[in-house]
Amino acid sequence: MKRKTLTQYLVEQQRAEQALEPEVRLLIEVVSRACKTISHAVSKGALGGVLGSLESENVQGEVQKKLDVMSNEVLLEANEWGGHLAAMASEEMETIHLIPNRYPKGEFLLLFDPLDGSSNIDVNVSIGTIFSVLRAPSEVSGREVTEQDFLQKGTTQVCAGYAVYGPQTMLILTIGRGVVGFTLDREMGSWILTHDNMTIPEDTKEFAINMSNMRHWAPPMRRYIDECLAGKTGPRGKDFNMRWIASMVADVHRLLVRGGVFMYPWDAREPGKPGKLRLMYEANPMSMLVEQAGGAATDGHQRILDIQPTALHQRVGVVLGSKNEVERVTKYHHEG
Ligand code: AHG
Ligand code: MN
Ligand code: MN
Ligand code: MN
Repeated sequence: MKRKTLTQYLVEQQRAEQALEPEVRLLIEVVSRACKTISHAVSKGALGGVLGSLESENVQGEVQKKLDVMSNEVLLEANEWGGHLAAMASEEMETIHLIPNRYPKGEFLLLFDPLDGSSNIDVNVSIGTIFSVLRAPSEVSGREVTEQDFLQKGTTQVCAGYAVYGPQTMLILTIGRGVVGFTLDREMGSWILTHDNMTIPEDTKEFAINMSNMRHWAPPMRRYIDECLAGKTGPRGKDFNMRWIASMVADVHRLLVRGGVFMYPWDAREPGKPGKLRLMYEANPMSMLVEQAGGAATDGHQRILDIQPTALHQRVGVVLGSKNEVERVTKYHHEG
């Protein structure tokens, strides 16, 4: 049977339940095209002069990689002329990017982590792009968009997804009706629907965490991991496996395909920071995908999608994936 393309899937969603507004369909197609451009650059590596770092630092205090900045530019240029956006925000930009006056302004806000897993760029390990779409407040048609307009709970996301640049380039997407996956057919330049209903098993034997931070974790996180490490003879009665790719997109992709629990919890290295990952363009889009696939996502205490943002680049603890494991970790945090 002939496989569907992204366009065909989106047209059918739009036709089916009015589940998809035409402007959102256009937005997803533009973002997916930008991800194709990024994938092309990523696959060239040293041959394309895209490896290595720049002298600059981003608002996160991270040294920027060439691909961080290049990917950011690709997403800005692809999206600013289409008339579907009111403004954009990115991990790599200190404040929001307004749509130039020469282009029409739309009613959506696009947030993205243009290149996730930057520490893996120069060592040829899977990296990706994460994106989240919000609806702009209606009054922005009469005034300039502000950062405040972006500070909406994750539950208000219109759609979310990521591209993962790995052995295959894939686009994983939710418009609020489950999670679907497309594989890039490079010869045709088409995104082909290959995973039409991605779901996360409620149980797992696989956890993902950066163990080198163990001595800095809060006791509940230490308790959970110690129990996993105790294996069959321990309180969990089963052996666990561990993975840590250090590209969130790749670690989340794995648990969307075969289950697992991913954790980047608060740690004492920077006590004032709730965690390393960013709420608006990493945790929220990934949490929407995970919940849409039947999983759960908390910051250790509360549902991530319920968190009321107070700053564009705010960080958050992240525990997401197989429902029963996320609930256990969260329970341990509630028990203190
Ligand atoms: P980014 O490259 O966009 O800054 O994100 C990196 C994040 C995330 O992708 C990954 O899970 C985490 O950083 C890895 O952190 P450690 O290097 O501390 O393990
Ligand atoms: Mn990231
Ligand atoms: Mn990034
Ligand atoms: Mn970064």
